[in-house]
Parts: sequence; structure tokens; C-alpha cells
Amino acid sequence: MEEPVGRASGRADRHAASASTRPPVRLSAVVGNSSDRWRTGIPEFDFVLGGGIVPGSVVLIGGEPGIGKSTLLLQCAARLEQAGITPLYVSGEESAEQIRLRADRLSDDAGQVHVLGETCLENILHHAATLGSRVVLVDSVQTTYTEALEGAPGNVGQVRECAARLMRFAKDSGPAVFLVGHVTKEGGLAGPRTLEHIVDTVLYFEGEASLDHRILRAVKNRFGSVDEIGVFRMTGSGLEPVADPAAAFLASRITGISGSAVTALMEGTRPMLVEIQALATKAGFGTPQRVANGLDHRRLALLLAVLERRGGLQLRDLDVFVNVTGGVRLLEPSTDLAVLAALVSSVQDRPVPSDAMFLGEVGLGGEIRPVAGVERRLAEAGRQGFRRAFISARSKLVTEGIEVIAVQGIGELARRLAA
Ligand code: TYD
Ligand code: MG
Repeated sequence: MEEPVGRASGRADRHAASASTRPPVRLSAVVGNSSDRWRTGIPEFDFVLGGGIVPGSVVLIGGEPGIGKSTLLLQCAARLEQAGITPLYVSGEESAEQIRLRADRLSDDAGQVHVLGETCLENILHHAATLGSRVVLVDSVQTTYTEALEGAPGNVGQVRECAARLMRFAKDSGPAVFLVGHVTKEGGLAGPRTLEHIVDTVLYFEGEASLDHRILRAVKNRFGSVDEIGVFRMTGSGLEPVADPAAAFLASRITGISGSAVTALMEGTRPMLVEIQALATKAGFGTPQRVANGLDHRRLALLLAVLERRGGLQLRDLDVFVNVTGGVRLLEPSTDLAVLAALVSSVQDRPVPSDAMFLGEVGLGGEIRPVAGVERRLAEAGRQGFRRAFISARSKLVTEGIEVIAVQGIGELARRLAA
């Protein structure tokens, strides 16, 4: 009987709390501050964050070099400064003079923003505390190092330790921290990917550097929903939030040509219309080409096989190119029907009706399946002036203002488009 007692007391000793530990508290006694988000006033940015910046949070903004991360953060800093929330913009990549040159281009006035050219984390924390900054923007995590570790800035150990220290700084003293992280086309580099589990929120800034549109995508958010996107346009005076993102990617659409079809994607909670273009043309010698931009090439191969076997179209001797306009990527099978419509239209060399859009997933049997959120997608299409929607005959819905053309399978789609 003695033994258990001895063991129990030993355990109690081992677990004696140190004086600095905070005792457990009842949840109801915790003062929540979820309503005190700081709005930047850049609508698409606040939206992706889940309604503004949460004090004490750490947000990682990843993206390829040149996509606009520094520009976005400087504009954000300008807005925060105007709102009286003292930000500190720290750059390890540019001097204060270079930041000034960038600021001069912006439509937002960043003149009052405190900037700091610094790469040493200890100095950054010191200045942030002295200034009483409530938002610290660190550009970039790869150029920051801590004296506590050996090793050059940018190596995995440095990047992780700096992020972890900034996280502690944010949680302990309350400022929000934004961290820029560069990723390469391959998505690699010792950096952002390894940080995703440390920080509260991860945003990726995407787009083709050669195109104007930029998409800010939340891939992790402890304080908001993921998969929401914000759409921006890079202009001569900085990034401009796009007021009507649903239509942003249709802006340059030319109607009346064959090989074009429109569909509605769901990006988080918001529908977005995109145009899919296809070109099928007689192949030269050798294996015909299949080129997909913005679409998985295996998905294209599957759709072509289904179209040939179930839709009765001859594609064997044709080169096929499929392109999603605006640098958008199709990630959902709900866009299948639009890809097929564009292909059929190109093969038949007949434009699809310019007021028609397409929604449906295609099965291996050529059957068209219903998609989720069809009402919301159709409502948006209606708002953008579309009057007809080709959808699965199995979708059950009542629509207003948009005529539904129910199709069972791919053969029926081809016949209707030829009629
Ligand atoms: P930048 O914010 O430096 O990208 P990142 O920090 O992600 O590397 O943006 C770089 C590009 O944006 C650069 O090619 C110049 C262009 N740009 C504009 O087109 N307009 C502007 O007002 C600014 C500041 C930059
Ligand atoms: Mg930059």
C-alpha cells in the first residue's frame, strides 16, 4: 500500500507549477476581443482576412517574387497609419530610399509610415516596441535573422526561429505581424511552406506577372474561412481592389467566336465567372498535341476521351489547346461541361450562344452530373447578363431570370450546340 502513495507524491513534486505559470481560467471570464479587428479599408484585403486584422495574429503572405507582396503591404501600412494604427514597415530587401520611390507611385499616401531597413530580428523587435507599433510588417522572413542562431538568413532554422519569435512577440504584447515569404514557381524554398503550421493565417498572392489581375487566397485562417479570395489589379499606382470580382475575368471576352464557353467557379463563398477557350486544329505529323493552361492536363485527357467515345466527335487527328483566361486555375470538376462546350464549339466551328453559360461535372459514361451551389452560381451569371444555362438534367432547382437547358449527357450537349 505504501508504494502507490510514494509514487503519487513523487508525481505531484515533478508537476509543481512554476510561479510564472498562469492558472486555468473559466472561458466566460476571458475578455474576448474578436470584434476589435482593424480594418485596412482595402475591401478585398479585409475580406480575405475574415473582416480585418486580428490583434496579436501572425499572417504569412507568400508569393513569387514580383507578384506585388511589398506593394500590398506598403499600401496596407499607409491605410493603417491613416487610421491611427501605427504600423512599422520593415524591409530587409530595400533601403528606405527605395521604399520611398515605391511609395511615391502609390495612390495611397504612405508618407507618414515608419519604415526601417533592418534584417536583425532583435533590432526589429526593439524598434517595434519603442515605437509602440500595433502592426509590424516584415518584408521578408527570408532576409531576417536572429542573433540567437548561427547560419545565414533564409536557411530553414533561421526562418523558423524568426517566425516563432515573432509569433511569441505578437501573442505576448498584442501587435499583429505580417510576414512576407517568397516562394518559387515550384513552391519550394526553405521558407513559407515550413511556416504554415506556425502562423495563424496564410495568404498566397497569385497571378501571372504579365497579366494585371492578382488573386489573394487564404489557405489557412484561424480567424476566418479558408479558400476565400480577393481580386486585385496591378496598376501604375499600386494595387486596386476589383469592385466586381465575379466579372473581373470576363472583361476581355469577345463574343461570337467559336471555342469559347463561360462557367461559374465557387471561390470560397463567392461565385466567379470565367471564360474557357479551346482550339482544335488539324495536327501535323506525329502525335497530336494536347496543351492545357489553367487546367490539369490529365483532366483534359479524360474529357477528350469521353468526348470521343461518348460524344462521337473525332479528335484523333486534331491538336487541342485549352486555355482559361485571366490566369485562373480550374480546380473543380464542375467546370467540365464548359470545357467540353468550348471543345465542341471549336470542333464544329460554331460559337455557343453568347448569353449561355455551362455548369456540370462529366462522368466517364458521358453523363452530366449536378454541381454544388448551383443556385448561387446561376444567380451570379444572371446578374452578369447571362440568360441561358446548360446544366445537368439531374439538377433540381427553380430559377428566375435565367433559362435552364437541362442536358443528360455529352451527346445531347453536342447535338444542342450543333442545332
Ligand atoms: P512588388 O510589390 O515589388 O513584388 P514582390 O514584393 O512580391 O516581389 O511588385 C513588383 C511589381 O509590381 C514590379 O514589377 C513593379 C510593379 N508595380 C506596378 O506595376 N505598379 C506599382 O505601383 C508598383 C509599386 C509596382
Ligand atoms: Mg518585395
